This record gives sequence, structure tokens and C-alpha cells, in this order.
Amino acid sequence: MQGRHLLLATVMAASGFAVQAAGGSAEAAKGKISACIGCHGIPGYRTSFPDVYAVPKLGGQHPEYIVRALQAYKAGERAHPSMQGIAASLSDEDMADLAAYYGGAR
Ligand code: HEC
Repeated sequence: MQGRHLLLATVMAASGFAVQAAGGSAEAAKGKISACIGCHGIPGYRTSFPDVYAVPKLGGQHPEYIVRALQAYKAGERAHPSMQGIAASLSDEDMADLAAYYGGAR
């Protein structure tokens, strides 16, 4: 019983650290996500119905993973016309903020 709580606390602390480590601000992302919502669903999209449009779910994804994916689209390493266009317009700071927002627990 107690061990379980301890484990949960550790996991939560660890994921909080990951969000910090990405260097982004979830707060700052709130003015930036309007460009993503149309395709990636509502923010914190995790418990509602499955994706209708075969678009990957971002809520709860690892912040580092989100930043890497956006950089790969921007660099052309990942090919997808709409995401390449969007990523090209994002600065490193935008990416970090968006990653903190989507990677955070909300
Ligand atoms: C026009 C629709 C559209 C918009 C707008 C859009 N996306 Fe995407 N996004 C997609 C699609 C489709 C994919 C899957 C592309 C692929 O297969 O590589 C994707 C993939 C991604 C991935 C990779 C996910 C993974 O699991 O590999 C990330 C990260 C991402 N989008 C972030 C964003 C962010 C942040 C925004 C807003 C700045 C945004 N997207 C706006 C359609 C969109």
C-alpha cells in the first residue's frame, strides 16, 4: 500500500522533471496551440473518444519526443506536407512551449 503511493509520487516527480527539462512553458503555449487544435483534437485529449482523423494524439506524449518530431518535420527528415508547413513556422521556443503544454499532465 505504502510502496504503491511512493512509486506514484516518484513517477509524478519524474514526469514533472521531464517537462522542466524541455525548457518550455506550458503557460506560454496557450497562445500557440490554436494552430494545432483543429487537427490534434482538444488540449489534454486523452480520455475522450478515439481520433477520428488518424492524427497522432499529442496530449501526454513525452515533451522531448514532441520537440524532436517538430524539429524533424522542420528539417525535412519527417515528411508530411501539413506538419512540415506548420513546423517550419515554429521557433525552437515555440516547440519547447508546445511540448511542455502537450507533454504536461492536463
Ligand atoms: C493540418 C492538420 C494539422 C495541424 C494544423 C497540425 N498537425 Fe501535427 N500532425 C498532423 C498529422 C496528419 C500528423 C501525422 C503526420 C505523419 O504521419 O508524419 C501530425 C503529427 C504531429 C506530430 C508527431 C506525432 C507523433 O506521434 O509522431 C507532432 C509532435 C505534431 N504533429 C505537433 C503539432 C503541433 C505542435 C501543431 C501546432 C503548432 C500541429 N501539430 C498542427 C496534422 C496536423
